[in-house]
Amino acid sequence: MTEPKTVPIGGRAARCPFSPVDELYDAQKDEELSRVKVPSPMLGEFDAVVVTRYDDVKTVLADSGLRMGGAMPYQPGNLLSYDGPEHTKLRRMLTASFTTKRARELRPGIEAVVGSALDAVEEAGQGADLVQLFSTPIPTLVICELLGVPYADREGFQHRTALALDLAQSREVQMEKAAEMMAYMGRLVALHRESPGDNVLGRVVREYGDQLSDEELAGIGNMLLIAGHETIANTLSASIALLLQHPEQLAAVRDDPSVTHSAVEELLRYISPATILPRQAADEICVRDQKIDKGEYVVPSVLAANRDLGADGQDPDRLDVRRPAQRHFAFGFGPHQCLGQQLARMELRVALPALFARFPTLRSAVPLEELGYRTNALVFGVNALPVVW
Ligand code: HEM
Repeated sequence: MTEPKTVPIGGRAARCPFSPVDELYDAQKDEELSRVKVPSPMLGEFDAVVVTRYDDVKTVLADSGLRMGGAMPYQPGNLLSYDGPEHTKLRRMLTASFTTKRARELRPGIEAVVGSALDAVEEAGQGADLVQLFSTPIPTLVICELLGVPYADREGFQHRTALALDLAQSREVQMEKAAEMMAYMGRLVALHRESPGDNVLGRVVREYGDQLSDEELAGIGNMLLIAGHETIANTLSASIALLLQHPEQLAAVRDDPSVTHSAVEELLRYISPATILPRQAADEICVRDQKIDKGEYVVPSVLAANRDLGADGQDPDRLDVRRPAQRHFAFGFGPHQCLGQQLARMELRVALPALFARFPTLRSAVPLEELGYRTNALVFGVNALPVVW
């Protein structure tokens, strides 16, 4: 057997962080599943089976023999820490707040939030940083409103979240930040226990408060707060950076509302913001007749699989906002697939065309090759995006 290669955890190429590293493309061609060493400060360097083909990723994410347990530190209330019936039970308590219908009802509120973010960019003038003034405030305001978290507290929780999700931080720092987030949310939960608000946290307390501990409620709140702002903020920034590199496609998103739907799916597919979705085999399982032993870690690469469109997808390495929406794994697949995906889609569909319409001559204020990317975080993104128009 060959010695496992070390593959960077995000699996993104240094020359183009939107693309998978060559090792992932090689693994995709290989008939045999590849075993790699994945460097992670959170778990230490660990050996994992890396899964890169579209069909294999689908199999793995749908397989109930693969567990979250072990692959992620346990956090009460965080859906990603649960499997099987316990996961289903907890997830059902939350689904009503995240339906397509609910996302549609939120549209006017999202439009208002996007409008004020655009005003702030205009006010800041040439050189304004879209990460600070556009991509981050929009999802943060929306999720705060939805959850019942005071927006005034954002600096604290944004800072803690960024450190907790930064894979370059030590495990100690990540654990410390996670504990601070639990303490913060615990105080909010206590307020909702006294007087449940008209929002997601209030609703969960009202309907299921007797079945959930304070710790679980705080965990639910944190999961939604983190997943609800960090992911969309990074996806928005990365989408803008990518479209600035493809002016003709940016123009299509700006001028033709009929491409909005396919453009958002294509950006999600192409960017694949959530880097890795680690799992651990609860029992021996098989993928394409190949054995994965009990206890082995399995890392499906969403990024690689989203570039493997099979027969119905032409030229998957090309960004094409007019491409009919493809099946992709940007929101995962199977029991753990993203609870907030309809909300995320709605925010992206409102925010991107509105930005380009307000600033039709938008350009990066720095050479595009100088933009700094977050390649070592659980969610891929851009550090800063100064623009002129
Ligand atoms: C563009 C934005 C987003 C992306 C790319 C994204 C991506 C993902 C992915 C890939 C998963 C599956 C993780 C796995 O299987 O290991 C997931 C799960 C999840 N996401 Fe999102 N997400 C986004 C936005 C949101 C938002 C806005 C919310 C909530 C308000 C949210 C809440 C969740 C939750 C609660 C889970 C766990 C579901 C479960 O384990 O059952 N996400 N997300």
